Parts: sequence; structure tokens; C-alpha cells
Amino acid sequence: MQDYHNLKEHYKFTDEEAMILKELQPRMNKLADVFIDEFYDYIWGFGKTAQFLKNKEIISYHRKKIGEWFINLFCGKYDLSYFTYLYKIGEIHVKIGLPTHYVNSAFTFVRTFILKSIEENFVNKEQHIKEIRAVEKIVDMNLDTLTSSYREEELSRYLSLSKVEKNILAGLKKFNSYINYFLAGALALVAFFAIGLFVYDIYLLFFSDIGIEKGILTVLGSLLVLWAAIELINEEINHLQGKGFAIGAFIMLAMAALIRKVLIYSLSSEKSEELLIIGAVIVGLSISYWLVGMKKKT
Ligand code: HEM
Repeated sequence: MQDYHNLKEHYKFTDEEAMILKELQPRMNKLADVFIDEFYDYIWGFGKTAQFLKNKEIISYHRKKIGEWFINLFCGKYDLSYFTYLYKIGEIHVKIGLPTHYVNSAFTFVRTFILKSIEENFVNKEQHIKEIRAVEKIVDMNLDTLTSSYREEELSRYLSLSKVEKNILAGLKKFNSYINYFLAGALALVAFFAIGLFVYDIYLLFFSDIGIEKGILTVLGSLLVLWAAIELINEEINHLQGKGFAIGAFIMLAMAALIRKVLIYSLSSEKSEELLIIGAVIVGLSISYWLVGMKKKT
């Protein structure tokens, strides 16, 4: 944190800007309570906020600290102890596992809240521009310092690996991406075959003695499989773009294939035993699908 001079220099933060912020402090002081309430409304919309701000004590402690931090944004004295405290806040957030995304997003609120107040107290253009510039810089420097602990945590985890471990990690990442492309190709092939199955079922409907009822059900079944294969491809695209991979899509594909069998077997009286087994498997898969969905929501 000794390099806070560099930070101020890189943001071209001047003493005049520190003074401008100090002049804003009395007004911001009066706004602190509104700020805290609106800040909380905002971060509560993140969904998992309650996992971090677990009980009334923590919430009231955090509310108090957020208020102090907000007023301190306009303290006018941005020295070593100011930035050391910001760094400490960042470390606490890292320690509790708070996603850095939450902090970034909360800063959008902070920024717009302050700019709105500046907007409402417009005096002249020159002063207005100076105030905006000073506010933008102090907010950005705060965000920079708060998130630097996140970057250092990642870096230290990486640096603590030995050379061999780093090589293995890099190799595994490369191998993983090749496998993913292979999987994407294989899935495209499956979708292609599903189209083939659909065309074949249409052929059977018109040019064999399969019967109209069974024929239509068979076509419907192959459409179901095609739809599930497309879902799986979508999931793989999400995965390649860095989002998680949903096991639910695989379960859905298995269900689609079994439902297709049910549609076909339902017309034949001899297969009632097999139908019963397939039915039980479908129920099992549906429960797994539901459980996977529940886990995603929590
Ligand atoms: C602008 C963004 C934020 C700022 C400036 C901020 C500020 C702070 C401060 C000043 C502390 C207390 C550090 C100390 O003990 O001295 C703290 C702790 C904490 N913050 Fe934040 N915070 C922010 C965003 C968030 C968000 C979005 C969450 C949760 C969703 C969160 C959860 C917590 C928790 C759980 C603690 C620990 C409380 C404890 O000590 O029990 N913070 N934060």
C-alpha cells in the first residue's frame, strides 16, 4: 500500500480535487442516511446478499461502516492511512468470499448517487465539471484499492504454485479446451443424426405399413430428441463462453429419448412391462431434474 502515491499520480488526482471533495462533505454528510438506505435496497437486489450479511448485528455494523465510508469519501485527506483502510476493507471482503462483481456493481450505485446530488446542486458549468472530475476519480481510486486485494489473492494463489504445477495447470487448460471443442463437434453430429432420424421417421410414415397413429407418434418422438439435442448444444455454447455447464440438459436429453420410446411402445400391448420400467426411470429422471433446478436457485 506504500505505492498510494503512484495510485494518485496515475489517476492524476490533484490537491485541488481533494479540496473540492472536502467542500462537498457537509452536503454529503446530510445525505448519508438516504445513501445507506438506498445502498442497501440496491445490494439486496443481488439475491445472495443475505448469505454474506447474515444477521441483524452484521447488517447494522455494515450499515454504520458504509455510512462512515461514504462520508469519508469527502474527507479531503487521502493519505497512507486512508488507502490502508480501503485495502483492509477489500481484504475483509475477500476473506468472506464476497464476489468482486458485487463490489463493482455496488460502485455503480455509489457513483450515480453522488452524481445525482451534484446534478441537483448545479451552480455553474466550470464548478460542475470540476466536481464531477473529482468525484469520478475518488470513486475509481476506491474501487481500484478495494478490488486490488482480490487481484493479489488470485496472484498469490498462482505464484505459490511451483513451476511444474504451473506447467501442469497450463497443459490441463489447453487439453480441456481441445476436449470442449471435440464435445461441441460431437454434439453437432448428434443433432445432425437427430435430423436424420426425423427424416427417416417421416419416410416410415409415408412409405411403410407402420400405420398413421404410430407413424405420427414416432415423428413426434424424434422431434423431441432433436429439441433436447439443441438444448445440449446451447449448454455447451454457454460452457465455452465461460458460463457453467448445466447437467439438467443431459437429464432432459435422456428423458426425451425415453419419452420417445413410450410414445412408440404405448401402441403395442406386448410391451407393457418395458413401459412400466421406462415410466419408473422417467419419474426418477424428473426428480433429478427438479433437484438440479432447486440447487441452481439456492
Ligand atoms: C461499495 C461497496 C462496499 C463498501 C464500500 C463496503 C464497505 C465495508 C466496510 C467498511 C466494512 C467493514 C470493515 C471493517 O470491519 O472495518 C465491510 C465489511 C463487510 N462487508 Fe462490505 N462494503 C461494500 C459492499 C459490500 C457488499 C455488496 C456486501 C454483501 C453483499 C458486503 C458485505 C460485507 C460483509 C459481510 C462485511 C463483514 C462484516 C463483519 O465484519 O461481520 N459489502 N464492508
